Amino acid sequence: MKVLHTIADVRTALGAERAAGRTVGFVPTMGALHDGHKSLVEASVPENDVTIVSVFVNPLQFAPDEDLDAYPRTLDSDVALVEGAGAAYVFAPSVNEMYPEPIETTVTVAGVSEPLDGRSRPTHFAGVATVVTKLFSIIGPCRAYFGQKDFQQLAIIKKMALDLSLDVTVIGCPTHREPDGLAMSSRNIYLSDEERPQAARLNEALLLGIEAVDGGETNPAAVQAIMKAHLAKADLGTLDYAEVVDAKTLLTPDVLTGEVRMLVAVQFGKARLIDNMGTTIEG
Ligand code: PAF
Repeated sequence: MKVLHTIADVRTALGAERAAGRTVGFVPTMGALHDGHKSLVEASVPENDVTIVSVFVNPLQFAPDEDLDAYPRTLDSDVALVEGAGAAYVFAPSVNEMYPEPIETTVTVAGVSEPLDGRSRPTHFAGVATVVTKLFSIIGPCRAYFGQKDFQQLAIIKKMALDLSLDVTVIGCPTHREPDGLAMSSRNIYLSDEERPQAARLNEALLLGIEAVDGGETNPAAVQAIMKAHLAKADLGTLDYAEVVDAKTLLTPDVLTGEVRMLVAVQFGKARLIDNMGTTIEG
């Protein structure tokens, strides 16, 4: 396994792979990797001849009051984890390598970026879309793998790839959970011993929402009330949102129908946790 730090080295290495007729799978990450990331690599390895994982804490997607400096950086263990999962390359650039000058070009996906996290983190998704576009341009993958835990991010990247005719298939992979249901996240390490058990309320609230919809509830306000009532039990957390939306537009319809998604966000101290689950209303 090779760890590459420059754009030029990635282009040389992957150019040679492609010239030899090999396909490239790509897993973009910000490092601090856990089993959820591992499963993305494991999804890519059998589907592509070589898999590359990027490890880059992207400053563009952090607001000034967010955790850019505190974000965990664990390159050595990240490399070991992805090597064990079968990746061929890690791309771990410096900030200066990615942004040698202040960036003046930004990719913004209107519509799906606006609700949910877009309301609380208004500059976040343009930062994500911009760095992912840049990484796609550097790496040139056939397929790219993203976790469904960041459901809105996945929807944005899919829409961006469609709108810009990017020559990459964007693949969403299932969320990995701790035994109590907490979605795996690099930010879980911020949770205190008291907050940690309360963090499981997110998954429980989603399950209650799913149960209500599967039981025939089609009024979004009623489903949201059920999820919010459960999240209120996590009294160390501050609710950002608990919503049920159309899975494609991410907007709340008057009446739930077709594929719907429940999404929640709660701030526990330094840890902003998000999670989501989906179901389909037949007929
Ligand atoms: O999901 C993440 O870890 C990041 O948002 C991503 C896609 C690697 C872009 O920095």
